[in-house]
Amino acid sequence: MKIFVDGACIDQYTKKIANYLNLEIIRNEPDSNHLLYNEKGLSYVSTSSKNKSILHINFLKGSLGWRIKRSEHESSLKKAIGKHSHQLTIFDATAGQLNDSLIFLSLGHKVVAVEQSKILYLLVSDAIKRAGKELPILNNLKFVNGNSIEIFKKDNNQFDLIYLDPMYPIVKKNVKRSGNLNCIKEILSFENLMNHGDNLIEDFMNLKCKKIILKRPLKSKNNYSNINYQIKGKAIRYDVFL
Ligand SMILES: C[S@@+](CC[C@H](N)C(=O)[O-])C[C@H]1O[C@@H](n2cnc3c(N)ncnc32)[C@H](O)[C@@H]1O
Repeated sequence: MKIFVDGACIDQYTKKIANYLNLEIIRNEPDSNHLLYNEKGLSYVSTSSKNKSILHINFLKGSLGWRIKRSEHESSLKKAIGKHSHQLTIFDATAGQLNDSLIFLSLGHKVVAVEQSKILYLLVSDAIKRAGKELPILNNLKFVNGNSIEIFKKDNNQFDLIYLDPMYPIVKKNVKRSGNLNCIKEILSFENLMNHGDNLIEDFMNLKCKKIILKRPLKSKNNYSNINYQIKGKAIRYDVFL
């Protein structure tokens, strides 16, 4: 994979991205999957299907922007978090595109979010950089690249809850809205990370922690007998462990 810098000048920032991933910077658009840096910021471009798909994270637009503004309406997630008299410090062990962390932040909490994929980490970090001034809640976020279980073990005494959303839903072929998901799956398989979430739930359950919220597809099996309660939404549910 390479990073195609289109128009924008090759500066310290683009060099830092290329170095982080050990990628070559190029000036002409390649035919294969690549990272793109242009006036919009950083994106991932998939050329695997007939139509190119582009993963570009923007917290200020689209359904996420809307959810952040209306976070008081996130009733299932609020119920899963439960009642609290102070600002919570939440450990998001599967940060992904940071959607859920942004809801926690907009509900007034502090978040440490960890993402294992270097590419996703850079795409999200770029979105954080662009949104910075318009989203002051980001001041309450610490975003880290690495394996969350290792990072948690180093830093585990300060969290009120652990949030786990380890699996992307299986997307059927030919489903139009799956562009972003397919890009993410390509990124994870490029980095050899596709099956890394498998033991994560058990790993966290074996540690001392006050509360774990596990996000699952609504109809998935109850794999654990020690669930304390479940909050069900339209398509997903939260299994809560105390
Ligand atoms: C379903 S996504 C999470 C989506 C996220 N909740 C959101 O709102 O955008 C799962 C993510 O967890 C990450 N992940 C899985 N195991 C991890 C680990 N041990 N440490 C850090 N990240 C991990 C994957 O790389 C993937 O990006």
